[in-house]
Amino acid sequence: MSIITFANEKGGVGKSTTSVHFAYWLADKKKKVALVDADPQRSCSKWIKGMGSTISVTILTTPDELLERIPEIAREVDYLVIDAPPGLAECSRAILFRADLAIIPCQPTGLDLDAASDAVRLVRQAQSVRGGLPNVGMFVNRAAKGTKLKDEALSLIQKINDVIALKTVIHQKQVIADAFGQGATVFDLKGAGASDAAAEFEKLFREIMRLL
Ligand SMILES: Nc1ncnc2c1ncn2[C@@H]1O[C@H](COP(=O)(O)OP(=O)(O)O)[C@@H](O)[C@H]1O
Ligand SMILES: [Mg+2]
Repeated sequence: MSIITFANEKGGVGKSTTSVHFAYWLADKKKKVALVDADPQRSCSKWIKGMGSTISVTILTTPDELLERIPEIAREVDYLVIDAPPGLAECSRAILFRADLAIIPCQPTGLDLDAASDAVRLVRQAQSVRGGLPNVGMFVNRAAKGTKLKDEALSLIQKINDVIALKTVIHQKQVIADAFGQGATVFDLKGAGASDAAAEFEKLFREIMRLL
């Protein structure tokens, strides 16, 4: 039983997209997986439902519910993936008190990197209370190929103390943006763009698994 959350108080960084893809990828590997949707927008629940997937999704949107129910849901599965909400620091805090691993997606802009420091701060608070956990990794999402911003973002996240900078970068890809509307993940969409995106996610998820 491992509990992995995709967290960042900034919205639009790819928490829900990565949560759904990671849960789907694990289920495809025949792992027993459940998702907790802590985002009031319920993107994950709608996405999983739209795919007709059998992955079980529980909506928990208050700190009390999150603290109390995460352990019992996690006990039933190999992996519990939690899509953390934007903005709601108290919910994120509750999730970080329960997670084994927090992954922070970050877009490669100065503003986003600055906002990610709030997420790192919350993780550090949880680590200090819990005597170490959760482990924390950060990756760059929605990067444009060959840009200076992407390289700068990568070197900046490598400098954050106690945060594991993931080497895989997920690039800005139309097929990723389209996946929700198609009721699919990039793993089941056709075309070169989809296989490129699937290969990036595969690489990212292998890196994440090594942190567990
Ligand atoms: N790598 C990517 N390439 C293109 N679009 C992306 C990528 N990652 C996320 N998106 C899009 O960005 C928006 C925000 O992503 P989402 O997963 O909802 O972020 P969050 O859950 O952090 O708010 C969505 O429209 C999503 O389709
Ligand atoms: Mg979301």
